Amino acid sequence: MNYRVSNSLKSLKAYQPGQSEKDVKEKYNRDFFVKLASNESPLKPFDSVILALKENIESLNIYPDPSARGLIKVASKYYSVPEDSILAGNGSNELIDLIIRLFCEPNDSVLTSKGAFIAYKVCSGSNRAKLIEVPLNENYSLSLKEYDKTLTQLDQQNELPKIVFIPNPNNPTGSYISKEELKPFVEKWGDREDLILIIDEAYNEFVSASDFCEGSEFLKFKNVVLLKTMSKVFGLAGLRLGFMIADPNLLSLVHRIRNPFNVNTLAQVAGACALNDTESIENIKKLIISGREDLESFFKDIKIEYTPSQANFVFFDTKKDALIVHDKLLSEGLILRPLIPYGFKSHLRITIGDVEQMSFAKDVLKKVLV
Ligand SMILES: Cc1ncc(COP(=O)(O)O)c(C=O)c1O
Repeated sequence: MNYRVSNSLKSLKAYQPGQSEKDVKEKYNRDFFVKLASNESPLKPFDSVILALKENIESLNIYPDPSARGLIKVASKYYSVPEDSILAGNGSNELIDLIIRLFCEPNDSVLTSKGAFIAYKVCSGSNRAKLIEVPLNENYSLSLKEYDKTLTQLDQQNELPKIVFIPNPNNPTGSYISKEELKPFVEKWGDREDLILIIDEAYNEFVSASDFCEGSEFLKFKNVVLLKTMSKVFGLAGLRLGFMIADPNLLSLVHRIRNPFNVNTLAQVAGACALNDTESIENIKKLIISGREDLESFFKDIKIEYTPSQANFVFFDTKKDALIVHDKLLSEGLILRPLIPYGFKSHLRITIGDVEQMSFAKDVLKKVLV
């Protein structure tokens, strides 16, 4: 069937999610797999969240609160921002899509880095915007010098992109941008009326570097937008919940184009509960940071090159065809993430799991890589 879909969307490729255990069980004829492929939390949702979900399951015949007021109240306290500066979405992925849709006419451009989170590319494509990617540094970190160089050139040609995406830390490389680099960049570009500067902080809860700076420092700039997710440290990837934090006037425009019930009832209940559960949040942070440090020293010991990470995953170089290595790991029961859509042919990404999962993963990695 030759559907008459829009010509400008015909060449788009669907997002490739990490493989699930179900996907690989039959193919590799194994019952047991450890999946460390999608940067999820290795722990089940917090006990407090499970209880609250059970208590609310019987109200699912009623539509959710379209403005998620209870959730926004708790989130505004957690992130220390006024309630009208925060908007909830069906995962931060939905918010990436909405902001591009709001600002971009067909062929307007969006700027990010090569090797940055792939949703910027997918959502630019589906909104018919053009994606411009600046080069990465040699060590796979994002280069704000390259961002600045490209923005300056485009500005001189009167072709400034509408939106700039800066993931900090970045997925899939795990690198971060220090305060020393970020501050002058935001001060230069953050109050331009013709530009939206998005700092995507999906992983900032896992940062331990002392020279990191929270994007919230820059909220005085009217064109700075922060993105947050509840899919990582809060363990709610399956419910889909994220936040956009920005100037209330900008958010009122996003409200106009979002679906009325974009955040379902259970996500609203679970999100509010998780944000209040300080003890569980601290426990998972500790687990991930110590698992990451342990994995990085293991990579050092077995002489595998990796990019130092500030997130809940580590990006490493197999120095071989990553798809072949990935296949060998799968046949040993370990599911990691190949990064071909990002253009990385010899790298893989491993999410930090719990202690047992990491012990299994290290045994398999040693067997296959050394
Ligand atoms: C940098 C970054 N931003 C945003 C997201 C999207 O998160 P979600 O849509 O689950 O909230 C991810 C998910 O992996 C990510 O890596």
